[in-house]
Amino acid sequence: MKVAVLGAAGGIGQALALLLKTQLPAGSQLSLYDIAPVTPGVAVDLSHIPTAVEIKGFSGEDPSPALVGADVVLISAGVARKPGMDRSDLFNINAGIVRNLIEKVAATCPKALIGIITNPVNTTVAIAAEVLKKAGVYDKNRLFGVTTLDVIRSETFIAELKGLDVKDVKVSVIGGHSGVTILPLLSQVAGVSFKDEEVAALTKRIQNAGTEVVEAKAGGGSATLSMGQAACRFGLSLVRGLLGEENVIECAYVDGGSEHAPLFAQPVLLGKNGIEKVLPYGELSAFEAQARDSMLDTLNADIQLGVDFVK
Ligand code: NAD
Ligand code: LMR
Repeated sequence: MKVAVLGAAGGIGQALALLLKTQLPAGSQLSLYDIAPVTPGVAVDLSHIPTAVEIKGFSGEDPSPALVGADVVLISAGVARKPGMDRSDLFNINAGIVRNLIEKVAATCPKALIGIITNPVNTTVAIAAEVLKKAGVYDKNRLFGVTTLDVIRSETFIAELKGLDVKDVKVSVIGGHSGVTILPLLSQVAGVSFKDEEVAALTKRIQNAGTEVVEAKAGGGSATLSMGQAACRFGLSLVRGLLGEENVIECAYVDGGSEHAPLFAQPVLLGKNGIEKVLPYGELSAFEAQARDSMLDTLNADIQLGVDFVK
């Protein structure tokens, strides 16, 4: 397996590269790319960690050398939020970055599974889909918006609130990755019941958790270490599916034929071709059904912005 990280010198990229260097299966290759000239040095640094994962670093304007033969491409290249900004404020810079990188992915490793971390995810995944369509290599089963941070936050906050071992907490998060489009399905968490006030407060905290980090870092960026962990979990799940492991399930923002929007985060079964099956997200409480319905205008507008950008 070869995994490429684009944006690898950044806050997320370095954390993700470190985790992948220590957790990818033996014999894997890790390829790091960033426009920042330090990137080959980041790879040299990581190469001193004694694991059977070969690592190479690339910088400069062209990501293609890093992409040759990649099975999985994880993209965190772009700018991050500062206090007072919404994720949509990153569109002007990050839309073009994602478009240009995906053009290179389409030309160099069109069969790779692609995980988009760069914000605004609701829109950058739509951009990626349109670029891949234009290049004639779009496969809806191979493109993912990485929403795993919403899942791990939900697991953490639920375990804290209810005094549980976090290993036992499983939760789906559906919709998208911004504000009201993030919808944790608390009613489905096995063995746990919440009061109405707890559902309202916990849902809001999960939706605002990115802002919680942005404000705590006070101008120093957004979530990087927890995102590195989330992206590593998701990237390893993609690899486990590619290697033929069964029953690998993650929530992700995908083109899964949802009745709600062209792209929608929900649970997917991963396999040798990316998405093997889009799974139903199950029954919703009245609160969740209302929250799902009222997010759809926002989500669909975010997606349309991406489609129009590529046109
Ligand atoms: P960062 O500024 O620390 O790192 C970004 C890196 O991208 C930098 O090293 C920069 O040199 C690189 N870069 C910029 N343009 C590039 C290009 N054209 N090609 C290659 N590399 C390029 O930012 P970060 O904290 O790592 O965040 C990166 C992105 O991830 C942001 O858009 C942020 O909003 C997003 N993010 C998403 C999630 C999520 O849940 N999906 C979570 C956290 C952050
Ligand atoms: C997050 O959820 O932490 C990321 O999307 C970064 C951000 O801007 O909030």
